[in-house]
Amino acid sequence: MRIEDIDTPALIVDLDGLEDNLDRYQRYFDEHGIGLRPHIKTHKCLAIAHMQMRRGAMGITCQKLGEAEVMAAGGIDGDILIPFNIVGRHKLERLVALARRARLTVAADSEYTVQGLAAAVAAAGVELGVVVELDCGRTGVGPPAAAAVLAEKIDRAPGVELRGIMTMPAMPELIAETIALFDQKGLPHPIVSGGSTPGCFTAHEISELTEYRAGEYPVGGVAHYRRGTHSLEQNAGRVLATVVSRPTADRAILDAGSKSMSGAVYREEAGWSSMGHIVEYPDARFSGASEEHGHVDLSASDKKPEIGERVQVLPVHPCPCFNEHDEIVAVRGGRVEAVWPVDARGRIR
Ligand SMILES: Cc1ncc(COP(=O)(O)O)c(C=O)c1O
Repeated sequence: MRIEDIDTPALIVDLDGLEDNLDRYQRYFDEHGIGLRPHIKTHKCLAIAHMQMRRGAMGITCQKLGEAEVMAAGGIDGDILIPFNIVGRHKLERLVALARRARLTVAADSEYTVQGLAAAVAAAGVELGVVVELDCGRTGVGPPAAAAVLAEKIDRAPGVELRGIMTMPAMPELIAETIALFDQKGLPHPIVSGGSTPGCFTAHEISELTEYRAGEYPVGGVAHYRRGTHSLEQNAGRVLATVVSRPTADRAILDAGSKSMSGAVYREEAGWSSMGHIVEYPDARFSGASEEHGHVDLSASDKKPEIGERVQVLPVHPCPCFNEHDEIVAVRGGRVEAVWPVDARGRIR
């Protein structure tokens, strides 16, 4: 089967680009002695997660418990970090069940979360690691003195094991200050975990980091393309779409709208909001979308596509884009090599 035989809209991954990204990011972290813990929330796909593990990833990150359940069931159970507060009876029961069959570390930023975790695992007699999430503007506890107090509580809590800290993104001063306090108090920190793809290649400047969580690096996206960290070839994740209408000279409509691309927008330097970069028509503006229609403004593009033409579009935000699709078609040199399920699609609980 060739790429021409794939019906649209479809999520495709170019294997040469994907493998290049997996290799070059793994090489960087290996060279600097920092563990790479890929965040699978981007691709949600066991086949890609196994490729990451085979290249030397030290474990995986799953944003949600449901993603971790899928990954563990698919054989990736050696070292899973869930950087999320697990709160409430329903999830604590599932967490305990998962902790029986996978090595797990979860994040906590409050005493409430810690008490729930400790009560659940102590009663069940399972092992669970906990890292303190530092406040970087979303969840997290701050300032560092408060993080150290929470760490002491985790260290004293029954059942759970204090394993260190995590931040999103990696914030050097915050990490250094917090680790200094941990050391003063004799608190363990085998895990010092930073994250986000844009910060990957400066991770070595933060000497305290033991590991790094990156999600988007295997497939790229418009921001990575514009920033230059991913060449066009390295932007491996694409939505294949068909031009289904040309209502005016300067308007084309694709069969890929927000239910294929996700609703994410990228603010281009010129001021307009992009919903994707069209590879074959780089001057065209994917300027809007309804659910099943991609709206393309052709006024700045000399070349204009015809009805029936197929194009490849780089998504703005690969994570929700992949979550819109049941499967990923893996292609190399125009030939389809595999079709992979998006195994953890929709696992938001
Ligand atoms: C906790 C956490 N770690 C790591 C990442 C990965 O960052 P990126 O998507 O930039 O690769 C994310 C992304 O949202 C995240 O929320």
